[in-house]
Amino acid sequence: MTASYPALRLRRTRASDWSRRLHAETVLTPADLIWPLFVTEGQGVEEPIASLPGVSRWSVEGIVARAREAADLGIPCLALFPNTPPQLRTDDGREAVNPDNLMCRAIRAIKDAVPEIGVLTDVALDPYTTHGHDGLVDAAGYVVNDSTADALVQQALTQARAGSDVIAPSDMMDGRVGMIRAALEAEGFHNVQIMAYAAKYASAFYGPFRDAVNTRGLLKGNKKTYQMDYANAEEALREVALDLAEGADSVMVKPGLPYLDIVRRVKDEFRVPTFAYQVSGEYALIETAVAAGVADRDAMVLETLTAFKRAGCSGVLTYHAAHAARLLHA
Ligand code: PBG
Repeated sequence: MTASYPALRLRRTRASDWSRRLHAETVLTPADLIWPLFVTEGQGVEEPIASLPGVSRWSVEGIVARAREAADLGIPCLALFPNTPPQLRTDDGREAVNPDNLMCRAIRAIKDAVPEIGVLTDVALDPYTTHGHDGLVDAAGYVVNDSTADALVQQALTQARAGSDVIAPSDMMDGRVGMIRAALEAEGFHNVQIMAYAAKYASAFYGPFRDAVNTRGLLKGNKKTYQMDYANAEEALREVALDLAEGADSVMVKPGLPYLDIVRRVKDEFRVPTFAYQVSGEYALIETAVAAGVADRDAMVLETLTAFKRAGCSGVLTYHAAHAARLLHA
């Protein structure tokens, strides 16, 4: 044996498949996935979304079929987003508090047909407003914090009454988590959870989502006065600390892959259930690379989703949820 050759060989445990599986530090399972779905009006409607190839809007009975599919795949939770008909969009987004809106009908139908699956509902006004902002806009175009938070409390209660299991405020107003928690407690919704979009960044990766809920053409300006600056990480820790102090049960970082450093810091600092959203633009990056013939979809899906878990996530919101679950069952 030549002295300079190593006896300590990290390749030893990588040499066979059984050993690699045995030594895996991180294991991805279907139980780590939350599947975002887009609901639209009508009966028997499936509308493919061009910028999200492979993702469609479904009318309520189609959403129920997806819920059944998800439950059968072992996916524990869905995230719902409505494509509100244009004539129901207003400056104040009042359709958000209509107990018979698309979102509420979808929640009730899912909870009726597939009661074992969790339903997470997004709280923010953008799918309901004519200006595409997440809150109420003043004459100067500024999204006003406190009156928006009041509206979001009513939106959250509307969703909880319809049967939502997890209220997920994605609006980034100050103080809304505490206000929503207090209102849920006051109405006896003690077990309705809050997953706060705690560190949500003003991002270029949301474009296809805005097509999916038809807000891209409506949005005036950008969301930088409420969503975070992507230059900041310390501020994300403050956002998370506040949302936890206000009663959030879990926190989310969004977007996902470009923000894994934030996930890791949040997890290390707070040791709470931490989620990430692999957003529409990230999904589109993978799918367009696959369509261009330069990427292997299955390998990229499993690698990126495992990376979220390695970074500290309890789970991931991903449009690839059903596909990933099928791969994991194969
Ligand atoms: C809106 C909301 C957005 C997303 C989830 N909720 C878009 C935005 O903030 O403009 C984006 C999700 C995605 O891109 O997949 N409150």
